[in-house]
Formats: sequence, structure tokens, C-alpha cells
Amino acid sequence: MASCLCRYRRRILFFCSPCILLVPVYIYVSVALCYVMKHGASHGAHVVHSKLPSHFTASGLKHSRDLAPHPVKSFWRSELDSGALWNIIQYMTDRQYNPILKPHLPENVSSVAYKTAISRRTGDRCSPNYEIKNTIPDYAKLPIQMKNFLTSMHCRDYPLIIDPLDVCDSQAKKGAPTLLMVIKTQTANFQNREAIRETWGRSGNIKTLAGQQRPVSRVFLLGKSEDLHTEEKMHLESSKYGDIIQWDFMDTFFNLTLKDVLFWNWFSRRCSHARFIFKGDDDVFVRIPAVLDYLLAEEANESRKASDTESFVMGDVINNAAPIRSNWTKYYIPESFYKGLYPSYPGGGGVLYSGSLARRLLEVSQRVHLFPIDDVYLGMCLQRLGVYPINHPAFLTFDFPVDEPREPCANHTILLVHKRSPAEMLQLWSETSTPSPECRNASLRVKLRPD
Ligand SMILES: *[C@@H]1O[C@H](CO)[C@@H](O)[C@H](O)[C@H]1NC(C)=O
Ligand SMILES: *[C@@H]1O[C@H](CO)[C@@H](O)[C@H](O)[C@H]1NC(C)=O
Ligand SMILES: *[C@@H]1O[C@H](CO)[C@@H](O)[C@H](O)[C@H]1NC(C)=O
Ligand SMILES: *[C@@H]1O[C@H](CO)[C@@H](O)[C@H](O)[C@H]1NC(C)=O
Ligand SMILES: *[C@@H]1O[C@H](CO)[C@@H](O)[C@H](O)[C@H]1NC(C)=O
Ligand SMILES: *[C@@H]1O[C@H](CO)[C@@H](O)[C@H](O)[C@H]1NC(C)=O
Repeated sequence: MASCLCRYRRRILFFCSPCILLVPVYIYVSVALCYVMKHGASHGAHVVHSKLPSHFTASGLKHSRDLAPHPVKSFWRSELDSGALWNIIQYMTDRQYNPILKPHLPENVSSVAYKTAISRRTGDRCSPNYEIKNTIPDYAKLPIQMKNFLTSMHCRDYPLIIDPLDVCDSQAKKGAPTLLMVIKTQTANFQNREAIRETWGRSGNIKTLAGQQRPVSRVFLLGKSEDLHTEEKMHLESSKYGDIIQWDFMDTFFNLTLKDVLFWNWFSRRCSHARFIFKGDDDVFVRIPAVLDYLLAEEANESRKASDTESFVMGDVINNAAPIRSNWTKYYIPESFYKGLYPSYPGGGGVLYSGSLARRLLEVSQRVHLFPIDDVYLGMCLQRLGVYPINHPAFLTFDFPVDEPREPCANHTILLVHKRSPAEMLQLWSETSTPSPECRNASLRVKLRPD
């Protein structure tokens, strides 16, 4: 019997030891399963997907001056921290067109979708949206121009009243215009337009300072005024010069953005081959021959790439500007409409950009809600294109600094100066187009405006 047990002990040991060893594993698995099922049930699905860290650093990455810094923020804001109307609707639109969040929408399809989704248009007519009152708590207290802006900010397809056909076509024989001058003006400003036509705004083959000839065209941008008499007079002027574009919207300060957006559209159809655009107000003086020399030098620079021209925009760049919150100024933007600083933008008095950038601006502006201040709106579009405006100290959109001693050749060192009356334009034109010998070689201003 004992010998029998002895005989089987080896076999029993051989078979049972693995079973005994497996018992703790079995107990462990059972307990673990029970735990997961219990806690899984109480927390729902969230236990499985633990929260991702807000940012990720690859292991082994050391701080080095040769490496770009690790991004600490996401590339777009994941949460909206403001209760301002423009910020909210633009945040939704930006997310809708974010190529990472919504990669499936091709560019052109999405802009069609935007048009039907955002605006409530019926043919050429666009009715006021009075429901917007309920989205702004202090609507009743806002100045009338802000109220008017709010009820019509979804409208932008205003029809043309005057559409000059041969602004750029008349240049066709001489080749594409090197520069198209685009001037924002109002019906009543006859004298400004007349002075511009006679001085810096001449069209045709214009001689640069260096003595080259370049084709230049000119066009004025107008909305509608309420005075029928001046409107009639302006129509006569338009048939005489053929340089007026007019759209069917009220020509008010807060409607100036419409002129940019509608101009980009007009440009893409009527003058898209123009190489550069100067866009400015009707109370500035521009040294167009010097501007042409600057542009020709830019184009001739061999170290420039084609992509540089696609993002070329230059002016008096304003950085980190804050909205004006005093409700008696014409620039007043309430906090309930916009919060935060403005993106960098070239001051609206005068700005120079490439024709190819104008085509990109038309595209991107479809996805940027109208903003009442036109130069800020340009900055908002540039920001979404990833284009940085170039600052040039020869753009004096705030005139010469008051405390600056007047150099004898000061007027020959600028590209643009604001603000100048029609009489001053004539005086500046005769002074700068026949410079005295000592001013002939004056170079452009390099001094930055003291901040
Ligand atoms: C969108 O663009 C592609 C090429 O860029 C073109 O083939 C297509 O016809 C466009 N679709 C629409 C709806 O415009
Ligand atoms: C400016 O705001 C004050 C206080 O909210 C208000 O009493 C005043 O009427 C406003 N002025 C204008 C021009 O809207
Ligand atoms: C802009 O023009 C439209 C159309 O004429 C008008 O309804 C709206 O009140 C104007 N907006 C402002 C801010 O004047
Ligand atoms: C050409 O462009 C480069 C970079 O854009 C600049 O550094 C250089 O000074 C320019 N050259 C001339 C002759 O303007
Ligand atoms: C520059 O032009 C202004 C007119 O805008 C004129 O009053 C001034 O005398 C000119 N400056 C010089 C130094 O010629
Ligand atoms: C202007 O520049 C030209 C060549 O660049 C030079 O020959 C001439 O002496 C200069 N004139 C003055 C007044 O400095």
C-alpha cells in the first residue's frame, strides 16, 4: 500500500502542482474582473477613456536652442471664454472650417455651405434681422450705428449700381496694370476725387522716379447717399471719367467693410490680372512714382519667392490695439459685441497689397463675419490666412509726428501721408513731382513712429 502511494506520489505531485499554482492567478483574475465591472458600472464609459493630458511632450526631448519650442497651447482655442456676439459666431465658423477638426469639407464646397447656412438672403434683397436684439443684452443702450450694423451684418451681397467695365480693360493693350489704385470715397466728396485725378491718382502710363513707365489704373468705391441731387451729379461724373464703382448700400462709417469685401469680388471678375493694389482713403497723399519704384524693386529681388507675393501686404501696421469702449466716439465697439485685442492690421488710410492676395482675401472673407471697422476686418482676414502685414515707416497714416523737426525734404521721404485736403494735395503734387536738386535723392523714411 505504502509502496503504491509512493509510486503515485510523483505523478500526483507532477499533475497537482501546476493546478495549485494556478489558484492564486484564478483568484486574482476574478477579483480584478469584479472590481472593473463594479467600478465600470458606476462611472459609465468614462473610466475606459481616461482624460488625455492637455499637451504632450515626447520623451527624450530636451530644451535646445536649435529646436522650435514645444507648443504649450492647442493651435485653436478649445473653449470660448467670452460672451461677446462676434467672438461667439466667429468661433463657431472658425471651428466649422478648421481643417483638422473638419477635414472632409473641401474649400469651395464649404464656402457654399457657409453662404446658405449663415445668411438669410432672398435674391438680391436681404432683410434686416431684428432677432439679433435678443442675442445682445444691452441692445437698447447701443448707439444707432451699432444697432444698424447688427441688424444687417448678415448681408453682404449688395448689387452694383455702377459697374465700370474698362477700368482695367483699357490697359489691356499696354499689359496688365502694375498698380490699381482703389480709393474709398463718398458721393459728396467731389473735390477730393477731382484733386486725386489731377495729382497722385492719375491713370495711364506713369513714370516712376527711376524713369520707367508702368500702367496704372484708378477706381473709386462708393455706396449710396440719401441726397438725390448729389447722386445725380455723381452719375454725370461717372459717365465722364468711368472710374466709379457704386453699390446699393448706405454709405456709412460702419458699412465701409462692405466696400472691401465687395471690391475683392469686383476685382476677381474685372481686374484680377493687376499685379498690385493700393487701397486708401480720399484724404491721403500718395507718392505713386515712389510706390512704383518700391514695388518694382520688390518684384526684381531674386531672393523673393512666389509665395512672398501671395502674402504681400504693407502699410502702417497697428499691433495689439484694443477696441474703443467710449460710446460717444464713432469707433465705439461694445463689450457685448467684441472682446479681446484686435489682430495686427495696417491702418486703413492707405495699404498696399498684391493682386494674388486680394483673391485669397475674397475667399477667406466668406468665412469671417463682417466687423464694423474696415481696417480691423482686414487684419482679421489676414490672421486667418496666416499673413503678417509688413510695417513701412514711410506710411504716415497719422501724419508726421508733431514733435518731429521738419526736415526740408520731409515731403520727399514718404510713401503716404494722411490727412491732406484737396488744396494740400495740389501743393504736395507740384512739390514732389518736380523736386528741388537737394531733395532729388532723398531716401524713404526709416524712422519708426515713437510709441
Ligand atoms: C471645387 O474645386 C474643384 C477643384 O479645385 C473643382 O473641380 C470643383 O468643380 C469645385 N466644386 C465646386 C462646387 O465649385
Ligand atoms: C453711453 O452710455 C451711457 C451709459 O450706459 C448712456 O446713458 C448713454 O446714453 C450712451 N450714449 C450713447 C451716445 O449711446
Ligand atoms: C448698411 O447698409 C444697409 C443697406 O443699405 C443698411 O440697411 C444698414 O443700415 C447700413 N448699416 C449701417 C451700419 O449703417
Ligand atoms: C531681397 O529680399 C531679401 C529678403 O526678402 C532682403 O533681405 C534683401 O535685402 C532684398 N534685397 C534687395 C536688393 O532689396
Ligand atoms: C510739405 O507739405 C506740406 C503740405 O502738406 C507743406 O505745408 C509743407 O510746407 C511741406 N514741407 C516742406 C518742408 O516743404
Ligand atoms: C544723386 O544721386 C546720383 C546717383 O545716385 C548722384 O550722381 C548725384 O550726385 C546725387 N545728387 C545729390 C544732390 O546728392
